[in-house]
Amino acid sequence: MKVWTMAVVMAGALGALPAVAAPAASAAPAASGGTVNAAQIVASVCSACHGADGNSVVPTYPRLASQGAAYIAKELADFKSGARANPIMAGMAATLTPQQMVALGAYFHAQKITPSTGGDQRLASQGKQIFTVGAGDVPACAACHGRAGQGIAPFFPHLAGQHAQYIEAQLHAFQSGQRTNDGGKMMRVIAAKLTPTQISAVAEYLSHL
Ligand code: HEC
Ligand code: HEC
Repeated sequence: MKVWTMAVVMAGALGALPAVAAPAASAAPAASGGTVNAAQIVASVCSACHGADGNSVVPTYPRLASQGAAYIAKELADFKSGARANPIMAGMAATLTPQQMVALGAYFHAQKITPSTGGDQRLASQGKQIFTVGAGDVPACAACHGRAGQGIAPFFPHLAGQHAQYIEAQLHAFQSGQRTNDGGKMMRVIAAKLTPTQISAVAEYLSHL
């Protein structure tokens, strides 16, 4: 819970950024005659938090590089509709059209994710076990997210190389019911079965993949 609280506090502190950057995003497509220029939107808005190549520095901002294009577009639509509740991203997605969401998905999918380095080997090997074979009545994450955590398009997101802190926060959010945009409650059912230590372990493992 501490990590999640920290994410909210940090997000709140940076909440002023989007208001400044947003007008540039809506101006970008108009300037290019209505065609979608994802690179321009990224440079003027998204890069501040997610990095121009989708490799964010701050661990509460997810890495978007290598992420599935369709998954990114779906999450942006969910932020806009409120199906995935997040005040920062709701503001970011508010002015995006469905075409821009698809273009942004393709842009970030084409970038290459840079995994975290260092870390806790013992915790990571415990996480590897959960990810690849499961634990008790927790199913193997690999069944849906791919053996190498590469995701399975269009529905199952890429997890390999993601910030541990972000993964932990999302698992806690599914567990508490704060995040409810998983079709068929797939992640809520699984997260409910994970202990805090299992969450830390699987997040540690994935961040180095
Ligand atoms: C002020 C910082 C900030 C900016 C600018 C920003 N984001 Fe985000 N983004 C976040 C945060 C924080 C989250 C995590 C939200 C959560 O915890 O649910 C996030 C999550 C996302 C996700 C979900 C990723 C996943 O793995 O589920 C996508 C997709 C995304 N952002 C795309 C964008 C795009 C595209 C832009 C530019 C139009 C953008 N963001 C601009 C802070 C930002
Ligand atoms: C039955 C299939 C299934 C299994 C098994 C599964 N997941 Fe998922 N997971 C999903 C789906 C579907 C989503 C995307 C939800 C959405 O549409 O936003 C997801 C999303 C996630 C996310 C959020 C990713 C992001 O970028 O925000 C994390 C983290 C995650 N899963 C971790 C795990 C872990 C850890 C396990 C194993 C303990 C696991 N999942 C097992 C289906 C599954």
